[in-house]
Amino acid sequence: MSQVERIGVSLDKKLLSRFDKLIAGQGYQSRSEAIRDLVRRQLSTEQLSNPDAEAVAAVFLVYDHHSTKLTEKLMDLQHSHILQVISSIHIHLDKHDCLEVIVMRGRVGEISKMGENILSLKGVKLGRVNFVSSESD
Ligand code: NI
Repeated sequence: MSQVERIGVSLDKKLLSRFDKLIAGQGYQSRSEAIRDLVRRQLSTEQLSNPDAEAVAAVFLVYDHHSTKLTEKLMDLQHSHILQVISSIHIHLDKHDCLEVIVMRGRVGEISKMGENILSLKGVKLGRVNFVSSESD
């Protein structure tokens, strides 16, 4: 944090009480830290709504490795997006299912498209794309 500016916020007592309960349950030690995180989250959400913004994303998927050619297709997709794919982790969950986490960096629009391509492959049982904005304050 380069420079800190103090601000005052007026809140309805009931609203403040609910907020205090919420952040205590989440483990926050101070209102300031909780409010800073809320502001960052909102700014991040705003940034991620722009398809041209830079971001990092993790694609989580669960699939049966017996599915015809799925492993091969997954590998092909990652190799053809070599600039976006930073890393991947493969975990054998049980006799059939595998969990794969593919971490990517790039423009929100491009990563979303690749995430959708991965999740729509035949044999993928569950999946989601989780974004985090990569441009900080
Ligand atoms: Ni496996």
